[in-house]
Amino acid sequence: MNKTIKVYPPGTVANLVCGFDVLGLCLHQPTDEMEVTLTNNKQVIIKSADGYALPSDPALNTAGAPLLEIMQQLNNDTGFEVLIKKNIKPGSGVGSSAASAAGAVIAANHLLGNIFSKEEQVSFAMFGEKVASGVKHADNVAPCIYGGITLIRGIFPLDIVSIPAPELWVTLVHPQIEVKTSDARQILRKQVLLKDAIKQWGNIAGLVAGLMKNDYGLISRSLEDVIIEPVRSILIPGFDEVKKKSLVAGALGGGISGSGPSVFMLSKNEATALAVKKEMNDVYNSIGLEHHLYVTRVNEEGMRVEW
Ligand code: HSE
Repeated sequence: MNKTIKVYPPGTVANLVCGFDVLGLCLHQPTDEMEVTLTNNKQVIIKSADGYALPSDPALNTAGAPLLEIMQQLNNDTGFEVLIKKNIKPGSGVGSSAASAAGAVIAANHLLGNIFSKEEQVSFAMFGEKVASGVKHADNVAPCIYGGITLIRGIFPLDIVSIPAPELWVTLVHPQIEVKTSDARQILRKQVLLKDAIKQWGNIAGLVAGLMKNDYGLISRSLEDVIIEPVRSILIPGFDEVKKKSLVAGALGGGISGSGPSVFMLSKNEATALAVKKEMNDVYNSIGLEHHLYVTRVNEEGMRVEW
């Protein structure tokens, strides 16, 4: 008999400002909805329950590609049917492709009786990221699968570390423009100056230490990106103003969420996160750009699963 499971893959914020490709956090909101059925017809069928024209060819679909890898490893008649309702808009910078990839893998793992480790699940999900952005990166799929904040020390071989953190609120604004991760990666400089690299790795170490020591001051000082943000922020209308006004409203800091165009800010408490939301709303209203706002917390539990 076919078995079906429902999963709610959450959005994720990759990079956490200074940690390009190595840091990410899991959100409570927004989340996608996926229904995955285990079949014995050795194929992956992708169906969409939303208006996005995502590829239905499993090899080109971020949920389909990891499932094909799982099937290849199983080497039997196992197949999957996937129904996806995306609430995380593709090209938003909130880990939309990762949500589909991680959702498919977590669902498959449950359906198969929890046969894969978390690291193995991340390595399957990275095949979905490769479809989406041309390269394997784990800074969205790892927090989506592990929950909380993750450090990806390396991907070949995978070395993922969960980072404990104090209470953190996330305010996120998604201006309604699309930035493709592949495009946002292509515009990056291939080389960095040593003086910039020194600043950046100081900040990454400072951020991780600040999170682990519950030191909000250190977290705040470390939320600085001298390598990626100066290049990518040009693609995001209102970026500088959002950042300036959010800091005045009391945010610890923040920047581009993943490859953008969403912008996120971290705050110590809900009241500050709501004040930041108001500033973000004002900036995009004054520009006249449609936008979605979220105030949420770091999601330590990770993806919700329902039988
Ligand atoms: N680290 C990736 C990037 C995340 O910034 O290109 C994409 O969501």
